[in-house]
Amino acid sequence: MLSVKGLVESGTLKDVPSKYAYGRNPEEHISLDEERIPIIDFSLLTRGTPNQRFKVIRDISNACQEWGFFMVINHGVPKKLRDEMINSIESFFDLAEEEKQEYAGKNSLDLIRYGASFNVTIDKTLLWRDYLKILVHPHFEYSKRTREVANELLKGVSRSLGLEENYITKRMEVEVGSQMFVTNLYSPCPQPEIAMGLLHHSDYGLLTLLIQNHLGGLQVMHNGSWVPINPLPDSILINIGDHMEILTNGKYRSVVHRAVMNKEGTRISIGTAHGPPLKSIVRPAPELANPASYRGIKFRGVPRASTE
Ligand code: SIN
Ligand code: FE2
Repeated sequence: MLSVKGLVESGTLKDVPSKYAYGRNPEEHISLDEERIPIIDFSLLTRGTPNQRFKVIRDISNACQEWGFFMVINHGVPKKLRDEMINSIESFFDLAEEEKQEYAGKNSLDLIRYGASFNVTIDKTLLWRDYLKILVHPHFEYSKRTREVANELLKGVSRSLGLEENYITKRMEVEVGSQMFVTNLYSPCPQPEIAMGLLHHSDYGLLTLLIQNHLGGLQVMHNGSWVPINPLPDSILINIGDHMEILTNGKYRSVVHRAVMNKEGTRISIGTAHGPPLKSIVRPAPELANPASYRGIKFRGVPRASTE
């Protein structure tokens, strides 16, 4: 397997090799407006006055219905820890290819799995992306801290749906649920407009938390346009996953997004997907399903499409 990083570092690439040339939809529209996804102040959710909490919960409800994405500020995950995560992921990708290959997993539920694109033997067009996926719960500090943030947000989401605050965490058995890290390295790309870092997809699970280094590249589908997301410094991006959409009977939608590259620098992103325990059946909450619009489905802990 050739990593994109290996390809970029092997010489001076002027063009994107044809197997990475992804046919963009000529009709697609990329928003040039400085649109900002909603901002949620986490400290007000957890420590605000009743009035402040009420307002934040209303903002969560609007964000989940209008965007499916929002960013949290004042979340309490220390900058040092986030930087260490980004740096250690960067050092992993800097290892020699033979060393990284030791982690090249074959099955989507391997505990740790390094790869490029998705499955280079079956993908028709390759993605400009190398990845490392780790099934983590509950091993280290960053995973612990992101679980805490996710759990508090799930309480806020429960309340925003008019449910008791522990509704989702209890019903989805989040205490023993799964947590998957998906770390992505998008090497500089000579023609970012014709290659793709991550194809459009929605995330599985309940909530995803995402941090990144200083470079942007995430785009979210909103009202028919791709909206480039420029997170505030130190914020964490949150998005609704497919199983949350099912649980809420479609009230909150798992929104399609993708990742693009740039010419100048390497972008690193670290997503943490939070879900129920593997194999649990997720169906619409009876309180929200009158009638139910979704069938129950098994949480497999892996994406539906071959793009992630
Ligand atoms: C993802 O959607 O899983 C990652 C997107 C990104 O790299 O920003
Ligand atoms: Fe995603």
